[in-house]
Amino acid sequence: MSEISILSPATVANVVCGFDCLGFALSAPCDEMTVRIIEKKTVRIVNRDQFNLPTEPEKNVAGAALLSMLKAIDENFGFEVEITKHIKPGSGIGSSAASAAGAVVAANELLDERFSKLELIEFAMDGEKVASDDRHADNVAPCIFGGFTLVRSLAPLDVVTLNFPPLFVTVIHPQIEIKTSEARRMLPLQVSLKDAIRQWSNVGALVSGLQKGNYELISRSLEDFIVETVRKSLIPKFDAIKNKSLKAGALGGGISGSGPSVFMLSETSVTARKVENVMREIYSETAIDFNIYVTKINAEGIKILEK
Ligand code: HSE
Repeated sequence: MSEISILSPATVANVVCGFDCLGFALSAPCDEMTVRIIEKKTVRIVNRDQFNLPTEPEKNVAGAALLSMLKAIDENFGFEVEITKHIKPGSGIGSSAASAAGAVVAANELLDERFSKLELIEFAMDGEKVASDDRHADNVAPCIFGGFTLVRSLAPLDVVTLNFPPLFVTVIHPQIEIKTSEARRMLPLQVSLKDAIRQWSNVGALVSGLQKGNYELISRSLEDFIVETVRKSLIPKFDAIKNKSLKAGALGGGISGSGPSVFMLSETSVTARKVENVMREIYSETAIDFNIYVTKINAEGIKILEK
């Protein structure tokens, strides 16, 4: 086998209270990628979209992830990766994670699954670092494992996969760009003990709500006292979207990753559609273009299309 194609899904990181540790994969949108083995020990990037992303491998998230993988391989071959992005860079729904994770998962298939999922997350985080100046796994972990994940520790890497009940997700992506690296720099380096207690209580309760399928507990736990208060200033109409979506019946939600996308979770598809209408109404009054996705949690993660 010398070539493989995959679909790599968008992801929602943080999930309101779990900054840098919680995340889940979405059923749509997904990037399309094909990875093939080449003779030279290098990485070649072929972009098949309009985003003009860098083709120097060390400046490209997929390229940097594959270079990291090649360092762990004591053989003389490399990879070419062809990328068609449908997840717009800078959208807050894990565009860089989809590229980084997709590239290494596809390459690993070509190598007969030589590396474990945790090793793949390590390589993918080296790719993520190109976009966010930092290593974080809350997008690449759900992309690779599927479903809902909690990154308990980065060193050593420890990822917990979570059970979850049926949930529908409405995501609005305003067409403005927020760079993850900049959205990280604006965060406080220290938090008060009072805020920390509220935050870790909510993370524990959210995980319990997900495990038990307790929608009311999920709803009560979707609170963030540390990150949302700072970052919401970057997202026009954030408060209106959140408040009106809750009134329309959403369980809760907030900034997806570092924004500008905003997501809401609902128990039924009917509510998720009502939330879509609310979001559409609010953003139609602005001059900002937007996309809305109504989708589900993707339990499978990256999908292998053809070998
Ligand atoms: N946890 C990261 C952040 C996710 O919020 O900065 C970035 O997609």
